[in-house]
Amino acid sequence: MRKEQLIQHKTPFYCYDLELLTQTLDVALLHANKHSYHIHYALKANTNDRILNLIQSKGFGADCVSGNEVKKAIEIGFEPNQIAFAGVGKSDEEILIGLENNIFTFNCESVEEIVVINELASQKNKIAKIALRLNPNVDAKTHKYITTGLEENKFGINSWELENLLAQLPSWKHIKITGLHFHIGSQITSMTPFKNLCIRVNELNTWFLERGVQIEHLNLGGGLGIDYQNPTENHIPDFELFFGVFKQFLEPKPHQEVHFELGRSLVANCGSLISKVLYIKKGIKTNFAILDAGMTELIRPALYQASHHIENLISNSPETEFYDVVGPICESSDCFGKRIKLKETKRGDFIKIHSAGAYGEVMTSRYNLREQNDVVFVNG
Ligand code: LLP
Repeated sequence: MRKEQLIQHKTPFYCYDLELLTQTLDVALLHANKHSYHIHYALKANTNDRILNLIQSKGFGADCVSGNEVKKAIEIGFEPNQIAFAGVGKSDEEILIGLENNIFTFNCESVEEIVVINELASQKNKIAKIALRLNPNVDAKTHKYITTGLEENKFGINSWELENLLAQLPSWKHIKITGLHFHIGSQITSMTPFKNLCIRVNELNTWFLERGVQIEHLNLGGGLGIDYQNPTENHIPDFELFFGVFKQFLEPKPHQEVHFELGRSLVANCGSLISKVLYIKKGIKTNFAILDAGMTELIRPALYQASHHIENLISNSPETEFYDVVGPICESSDCFGKRIKLKETKRGDFIKIHSAGAYGEVMTSRYNLREQNDVVFVNG
């Protein structure tokens, strides 16, 4: 974005590059299609309408984690039979939304939840299609707040509960198990956890087959990470490598479909948060660059110690300096990065925080009664 374009907009604002999004989606589809894999876009990463419209128009399915996300996906035009609905705590109202719309599957996280879905489906005289979200006890080796596949996490059904679950299956007349679902965590950059996941899925898949349960699809979840440090060089994640790991190690039975739920890897790099420098304040050891965006606009650094690449968009200075780049919110965690090397920075300069397209705009808050941000699209 050039300076003349930048100054037209009130900061802070989210900026989405629709051309990069299109390219990313195309590359993901190219490599998934090679193996006939299906991708559901995880709406939780970004629910901006224009982004959803583009993703829907490419034929992706949807992965939702609330009744409102299911409604949103349908409103945008995602086919109900391509909507997966996950989450450990679905309310009765939310389950009914899924039932009324005959969605592809409820990804169920506990026996208790299956009992409720069965009961509600029976009241509606429907058969609910469910996938069992199994906890594979595979370490994703990512930040502890976004690790989901360990037995200590609240997610999924543990292997020791399966015998008991199968024993109850005949009594659930309004449930059909169609799939097995897994999701071990997010921002996973090594392929080893995915390989380990495949090995565990193969065992569990066989376990069900041996007990006569017909599994139509395997859903391996999402989690593919992006390169937050080098977003320009690595602007599109390595989908070929990612899907290749599953091709090599996953052993679906004949006729079993393989599904994924990708969020971050599809949308993170197309979005950035643009902010203006309010003050340069001299500290003891460092200068603070105080921005007009804070943790209310992008909470990832405060919540997960995430570090996003930060760039001064307009400084022409040949000098560089180190800055602690912080926001205006009254919290010490409101910091985008310490000792960040930037071109010499002044009040009024525009700062780009890269790779904010996933879990950025959706996680903004009105804390401190902050204004709602503008959103700008480029290359549309
Ligand atoms: N499927 C399930 C069941 C999930 O829980 C998630 C993400 C996904 C798919 C999509 O995962 P992805 O491909 O985006 O990694 N707010 C955090 C990330 C939370 C991820 C929650 N679950 C962050 O900003 O890093």
